[in-house]
Amino acid sequence: MHHVQAYAVVYVNETKGHDETGQGTESAPYATALGAMLARGPDVTVMIRKGDEGTYEPLSASGVKKAKKMYDMTIKKKQKAGEQAAQEAERAEQDRKKLEDSKKIVIEPPSDAAPAKRIKICAGVQNRDVRVKVCGWVHRLRSQKDRMFLVLRDGTGYLQCVLQGALIQTYDALTLTLESSVELYGVIKTLPEGKTAPDNHELVVDYWTCVGKAPGGDDAIMNRVSENADPSILADNRHLVLRGETASAILRVRAAVLDGFRAEFASSGMLEVTPPCMVQTQVEGGATLFQFDYYGQKSFLTQSSQLYLETCLPALGDVYCVQESFRAEKSHTRRHLSEYTHLEIELAFVSFDDLLSHIEQDICGMVDRVLKDDKTRALIEQLNPGFQPPKRPFLRLNYKDAIAYLNEHNITNEHGEPHKIGDDIAEAAERKMTDQLGVPILLHSFPREIKAFYMKRVPGDEAFTESVDLLMPGVGEIVGGSMRMTGHDELLDAYKREGIDPSPYYWYTEQRKYGTCEHGGYGLGVERLLAWLTNRWTVRECSLYPRLSLIHISEPTRP
Ligand code: 4AD
Repeated sequence: MHHVQAYAVVYVNETKGHDETGQGTESAPYATALGAMLARGPDVTVMIRKGDEGTYEPLSASGVKKAKKMYDMTIKKKQKAGEQAAQEAERAEQDRKKLEDSKKIVIEPPSDAAPAKRIKICAGVQNRDVRVKVCGWVHRLRSQKDRMFLVLRDGTGYLQCVLQGALIQTYDALTLTLESSVELYGVIKTLPEGKTAPDNHELVVDYWTCVGKAPGGDDAIMNRVSENADPSILADNRHLVLRGETASAILRVRAAVLDGFRAEFASSGMLEVTPPCMVQTQVEGGATLFQFDYYGQKSFLTQSSQLYLETCLPALGDVYCVQESFRAEKSHTRRHLSEYTHLEIELAFVSFDDLLSHIEQDICGMVDRVLKDDKTRALIEQLNPGFQPPKRPFLRLNYKDAIAYLNEHNITNEHGEPHKIGDDIAEAAERKMTDQLGVPILLHSFPREIKAFYMKRVPGDEAFTESVDLLMPGVGEIVGGSMRMTGHDELLDAYKREGIDPSPYYWYTEQRKYGTCEHGGYGLGVERLLAWLTNRWTVRECSLYPRLSLIHISEPTRP
């Protein structure tokens, strides 16, 4: 604090003075003329000096003018800031009072209200103009002076709701946040021309309650899961991500795809079975087995239900299952999960050609069924604009021709070398070829060495197998299948070649003893099919709670 003294003369030293602690004396000068005026009023006589040299001189006329101008501006700014602060304080006080008062506002259903019919949002159209009760979560929220619009979400759809009057003056209304759960009562009215909302109607609310308030501030949903957040943050917050429009749309399409397959399979006389996940046999090689202790015995999580499906053929005819498969993958890629949903089918008395046609029919039949449903078609359009069902017939490409294609198009293996017959075509090369061709490819007749022990040999070309992968643009392999060996002894030979102890497989081997037949089947990765259908960068987006390899390799990031 400065003493207010009647000194008309104040001293300013631009290098040694202090505006805050100075007193305007020669020994304790101010640092600037403005500082002097702010402390002592604008009408002082300013004596000024730089450093210790020379004497104090009166400030020049232009210096005085400039300092006064600055003084006026500073005073005005201070006044304005003061006014603003006062206004803000007043507003805050009003808000506080409004909030305090709002606690006293109690709303009741209108006395003449009809009893409300509890409906889900998907039944809104059939229930317009009658009083309904709808429950759900606040998906969007927008307040205007005299009304509040919220978009309610209940999993079956979205419903615009409008609240006004006392309904928006309660404490719950003033503090409502996104993701809060609410129960709303009122009448669904068709929207006037020119206004848009889901299903072209809105719920005019006459009474509501807040069931569970969601946090605001730092913990608000938007701060937990923003769209461009780091993938690891989104993975940790998957439970909240699922509430978003994209993640939930994918899960809806997923359900529709499974329904579509089931309908397609039922129409061709196939039966669904549910094989176990805990097994003591391998199907697709020991390298990716998850092992666990089963009452002291070495056991595995299943890699494929194929062997069980084969045993069902004589009992139930053609069968399929939708079962989790587990693979201890050694790398973390965008199309590998450690646990995935495996749709597998097995067909009796078929040729390899029948099997290839079946794969094509199953995929196309499922897609046609899914697109027939308006809601699912809209979801696919939302996720994958312009999606067109694949053209039939699918391209059938022999493995040997694929190797030739890769070499003709300079697509090399992982080591930058040309491919040769016998190579397992790596993911990157396969993807490149598939994207170049731009159509679904039934790539078939792989070499025996790179395929599983049970596969049937190509008659007359025994180094190759009647095996097939279905490759889709954008994703690569979504289906793997084959014809199976039918002979008892050739299967025993196959176990031996692979170093597999045949004893735990006796039940599988005996299929060849008790009425063998030509048969084959395939497995489809549901998440991979979805990544293709909904145009997702990774299968992780297509799984409810993805389980991933913990071994990290760098992979190309999303373009
Ligand atoms: O090609 P795979 O290994 O074939 C089998 O398991 C056969 N026994 C199936 C049969 O004939 N019944 O796997 C089949 C499909 C693959 O084409 C791929 O779509 C999917 O399963 N798949 C995976 N999906 C996600 N993450 C993984 N780690 C996968 N491994 C295979």
